[in-house]
Amino acid sequence: MDVTRRSFLWAGWAALVAFAVGNLAAAARFMFPNVIYEPSQKFNAGPAAEFPEGVSTQLTTAWRIWVVRKEGFLYALLARCTHLGCTPNWFSDQNRFRCPCHGSNFTPGGDVIAGPAPKPLWRCRVEVASTGDLMIDRAILENRPGLRERPPFVVSV
Ligand code: FES
Repeated sequence: MDVTRRSFLWAGWAALVAFAVGNLAAAARFMFPNVIYEPSQKFNAGPAAEFPEGVSTQLTTAWRIWVVRKEGFLYALLARCTHLGCTPNWFSDQNRFRCPCHGSNFTPGGDVIAGPAPKPLWRCRVEVASTGDLMIDRAILENRPGLRERPPFVVSV
């Protein structure tokens, strides 16, 4: 079959249009990125006044949080070891958290006292709502001494 000048030009235009349509489709897809919509990490932990002195483990199973009341202040520790992410356990008789995976130990304030964990436990942002409930945000974390002892990572009650 002979290729005429006219059919050659039509083929060129068809290729150009196909290229432009492909680029427009890619640009349109770019406007809708793949996003995972997760539930909020902020939750209501209940009345702040009802947390007892010391370490409370009542939120550990549901939210992986320990609430600690100490000297008129409350703070929330994320129950995730800073070594490889296991969930430590609270031992009230030893006044420490102990990680079952590789043996890291933490004080009630979250500081490392033994084991391979490289840094203190994370504290979550906390606030007391107008209803008196303790609101904990697991998405906003701090573990640097000097910053973690200040609002919004502690709240006076
Ligand atoms: S994960 Fe806790 S010590 Fe390794």
